[in-house]
Amino acid sequence: MTSAKRVSDVGTLAGRRIVLGVTGGIAAYKAVEIASRLKKKGADVRVIMTRAAVSFVTPLTFREITGHPVTTTMWGEPHHHVEHIALAEFAELFLIAPATANFIAKAAAGIADDMLTTSILATRAALYIAPAMNTGMWENPVTQENVQRLTERGVQIIPPAVGQLACGTTGAGRLPEPEEIVAIVERHFSHEQSLAGRRILITAAGTEEALDPVRYLGNRSTGRMGFAVAAEAARRGAEVVLIAGPTPLVTPAGVRRVNVRSARDMYAAVLAEYDAVDAAIKAAAVADYRPAEIADHKIKKSDGELTLTLTRNPDILYELGQKKRHQVLVGFAAETQNVEEYARGKLAKKNLDFIVANNVAEKDAGFGVLTNHVQIFYADGRAEDHPLMPKSELAGVILDRLEELLKSSTKPALLAGKGDHA
Ligand code: PMT
Repeated sequence: MTSAKRVSDVGTLAGRRIVLGVTGGIAAYKAVEIASRLKKKGADVRVIMTRAAVSFVTPLTFREITGHPVTTTMWGEPHHHVEHIALAEFAELFLIAPATANFIAKAAAGIADDMLTTSILATRAALYIAPAMNTGMWENPVTQENVQRLTERGVQIIPPAVGQLACGTTGAGRLPEPEEIVAIVERHFSHEQSLAGRRILITAAGTEEALDPVRYLGNRSTGRMGFAVAAEAARRGAEVVLIAGPTPLVTPAGVRRVNVRSARDMYAAVLAEYDAVDAAIKAAAVADYRPAEIADHKIKKSDGELTLTLTRNPDILYELGQKKRHQVLVGFAAETQNVEEYARGKLAKKNLDFIVANNVAEKDAGFGVLTNHVQIFYADGRAEDHPLMPKSELAGVILDRLEELLKSSTKPALLAGKGDHA
């Protein structure tokens, strides 16, 4: 690394108030380097250690690095007035690295039995959690459920790396390198307010097409991809309207949500917002067909086969492409084969600026999972391959690309004063 690079690195986190939570795993030693890197980049770092973490690294080490006393207990001599509240209010960002399975379970359940869990329950700051544990513990369904619950509440999970673990096995569970974790923290602050003054429409989840009063035709979309984009856009300061099919996901902070059920509901809701937005991102999985008739009463079974007649739904994105004026228009393509050919076909036919294509037959990509693996195709012919990554991170990639296109678009809807509805 050249000295010029080192100088330019310094200060990217100047004055940022970060609380580093360290829990009791062998990777706790890496938290020392994380604290040091954050500090060198200018952050004001405070450390909370759990009782178990203290068995791996001494509080003195963190105190020397950060220049501040380290909190290890609820009951010791307080460093601040009402300490858990003081640190919860002080923080702009909480980073828990490493996070054990036990800490993750407590955080997911809202248990507050030590200084760290109490502080994260009390804070309104962004929360990043970097799990590190044995592969079996990481892959255990209960840990995965806990991670899922936290993600749905807007917590950013920094997925563990795959590699040799302290227990001698090889698999997922290693804490990523301190450099990577600090880069994620820097990215969090670098996009602050980068979409301020922009109004963005995002669709998410699947649609339900009623067959009778008890049944519908649906699909496997959970809404995770679209909700991740909505959360990130709101974090970057955009005014976000999220038009969502049925999903139990919690509305991200600062997002206006409009609930819909069928493709035709979504069509009406999207068109009502479209003129007033700077960009639309269609992550929803919309039914192309609906039953031609909805039975008034539950369809009773009989011995023979049942034939359904389906009729075409409106193609919402195609309509948006036809009506496009100042808007940047982004589609998704869910494919199981010929991904590039089909995605490029949709890009052209629907008059999009770019399309995010996922092969939904791939493990860990597409419907339901927390990660995605995509290619992005642009109207000018460019293409990008992206590695498998968490949907929350992909949301950032998509919005980075959108921001580049918005820079050349001259009509921020908010500033133009159009569509001033709540
Ligand atoms: O919600 P998750 O569980 O996180 O899963 C994410 C996802 C797989 C749903 C998401 O990544 C994704 O691929 N979304 C698009 C799903 C889809 O409907 O793809 P499509 O190739 O059938 O449609 C192409 C585009 O046209 C999409 O932007 C879609 O929103 C839009 N469309 C499709 C049909 C229709 N009648 N109207 C539309 O607007």
